[in-house]
Amino acid sequence: MRLKHCHNFHDFQTLARRRLPAPIYNYIAGGADDEVTLRRNSESFNRVDLIPNVLRGVEDVDLSTMVLGQKIDLPVYLSPTALQRLFHHEGERATAAAAEQFGTMFGVSSLGTVSMEELARKHRNPQVYQFYFHKDRGLNSAMMERAKSSGIKVMMLTVDSITGGNRERDLRSGFSIPFRLTASALMQFALKPSWGLNYVTHERFSLPQLDAHLDIEGDSLTIGRYFTEMLDPSMSWDDVSAMVSEWGGPFCLKGVMSVKDARRAADIGCTGIVLSNHGGRQLDGSRTGFDHLEEIVQAVGDRVEVMVDGGITRGTHVLKSLALGAKAVGLGRYYLFPLAAAGQPGIERALHLMKAELVRGMRLMGCTSVDQLTPEMLRRVP
Ligand code: LAC
Repeated sequence: MRLKHCHNFHDFQTLARRRLPAPIYNYIAGGADDEVTLRRNSESFNRVDLIPNVLRGVEDVDLSTMVLGQKIDLPVYLSPTALQRLFHHEGERATAAAAEQFGTMFGVSSLGTVSMEELARKHRNPQVYQFYFHKDRGLNSAMMERAKSSGIKVMMLTVDSITGGNRERDLRSGFSIPFRLTASALMQFALKPSWGLNYVTHERFSLPQLDAHLDIEGDSLTIGRYFTEMLDPSMSWDDVSAMVSEWGGPFCLKGVMSVKDARRAADIGCTGIVLSNHGGRQLDGSRTGFDHLEEIVQAVGDRVEVMVDGGITRGTHVLKSLALGAKAVGLGRYYLFPLAAAGQPGIERALHLMKAELVRGMRLMGCTSVDQLTPEMLRRVP
């Protein structure tokens, strides 16, 4: 299968699986415990039907929207994700450039493999810095300072990862950073020589956001252990409130789910929240962002911007989320499999397909701008 034969999420996933060593593929694809939430994320969109309107004059469709103070040309953004140069040697460089081509926002992770300064310097499209709150307070203030001075406007603090999710695929495969080539891992890597060749002939793996504070050469960490050992489980609303004031710009919490917490986020001055279960990778059995969207928008939609992520594989999933009041929708695996499959052209093709599905879906729904999508256009499946 080649890139031009990829017509949807599943095609990209298949191609990524062929290209990647199994431990890396499973790190991206996997979830926590029994992966119930992971599966439900995508299924949740099928529990709601779209009710279209016809004869509305829909030749010109405008997909642009404002989110977290940023104008974006598409109502989707590329969520911050970790370790991208492990998936494809272009890594975050491909993600940022593809997002720029489509005029949308991308995220840079604390666990990113290209520096936030480089990406901020090279790209004019909006970017968010994804923050993990570490036990090491020096590291926290240094990251905040760096994000500010590199000109990044939006801070996104992940709040659902104060301890590691139980990702059994990683335990089985031995996936860790940096790699330790155990005998069985070596077998998996030998099966994907072109990935291996690219990995060893390109810039050495590093975590530029953390390098100064973390000795990744000295130890090998699973992502679960990184969360559990490095992140601060004592993080509280007071800490976040202090961060919001220190940042002084658009501030967003990723991983808020309860109405109470959403209200609290509004109270301390957050600009937005992302309803998220971290792609089903943290608390298995937790509710999906989409299933919970209506309740949260009704409770706090007039005070904070509500975004959602998890399980998006189609343009219609995005339209359903916007109809329930999401300001924008985050994509994760939707661009990571294309990245792994083909680098920047892979992500561009995925975004091209998403844009085409959004335009087609909007026309078929009788809408020419995203604010015309409303809850009356949805019904629960009988
Ligand atoms: C993960 C983190 C790093 O889910 O976002 O693996």
